[in-house]
Amino acid sequence: MSPPAAETQKQESNRKEEARRGYTYEDYKHTAEWLLSRTEHRPTIAIVCGSGLGGLGDLLKDQVAFSYGDIPNFPHSTVPGHAGRLIFGNLNGKPCVCMQGRFHSYEGYPLWKVTFPIRVFRLIGVQTVIVTNAAGGLNQDYKVGDIMVIMDHINMPGFAGQNPLIGPNDDRFGPRFPPMSDAYDKGLRKIALAIGQELGFSEKMREGVYCSLGGPNFETIAECRFLNTLGADAVGMSTVPEVIVARHCGLRVLGMSLITNKAVMDYSNEATANHEEVLQAGKDSARYFEKLVTSLLPRIEPNNNVF
Ligand code: HPA
Repeated sequence: MSPPAAETQKQESNRKEEARRGYTYEDYKHTAEWLLSRTEHRPTIAIVCGSGLGGLGDLLKDQVAFSYGDIPNFPHSTVPGHAGRLIFGNLNGKPCVCMQGRFHSYEGYPLWKVTFPIRVFRLIGVQTVIVTNAAGGLNQDYKVGDIMVIMDHINMPGFAGQNPLIGPNDDRFGPRFPPMSDAYDKGLRKIALAIGQELGFSEKMREGVYCSLGGPNFETIAECRFLNTLGADAVGMSTVPEVIVARHCGLRVLGMSLITNKAVMDYSNEATANHEEVLQAGKDSARYFEKLVTSLLPRIEPNNNVF
């Protein structure tokens, strides 16, 4: 066998081995220590930026930023609109760490890889995670540019056995069977809605149910109708795996969706969803989103349940 072929085979077998194994506690710890040794920031809040919402990361003061490719064990972000940087800094006086770009299962990553950063955040001292995403509006009252505070989710891939907690449970992170009925913190939801009102855009603020699908294709009309009948107000391809892992390890969660397009629900409608439209809507509404998140931060109390 020629050396390049042998090398390719070795890489392939490493890849298969890794896919079977998942991360060990030591892997998470190694990454956490690697980061802590390279910054003096000690964030208690993590922000995960969805498609087109990465501008939030640029607002951090006193930045220390890392490319995902430089962080041990970190996956790489492959989607346009996801910069692939982890930024430490202060936002409105609060020490934060911000993921400028997240990972999705449609990129080919297993869910334990998609959610890797969340447990790292837990180990570096984060107590609260703010997860954001771009989503299609299923609720017929929703408009492009609305901000939906997530009150609950439907984990559609979970129905088919796709869950980031599948595999041996590590009790150092959390219990085998964590509850999910309280996934989205009531107090934080209330604060987010109140701040939207104080900032003068209460007409944009919604509270609803987010449904995650695996993607990467956008939904059919029949699927959108089905999801809406099930009680979903918005649909997207992310967030839920991160929320499940965050709740498993005791982090408090606030989730918010920017409605970037109206899901097509009607056969007479010729419109089709596309990623450019999603990114454009993100650009158009990012300032509201950024203002909302920035204003929220000082009102987040320490979460004493974590440690
Ligand atoms: N469907 C799924 N994901 C999305 C959508 C959508 O309509 N819009 C933004 N992300």
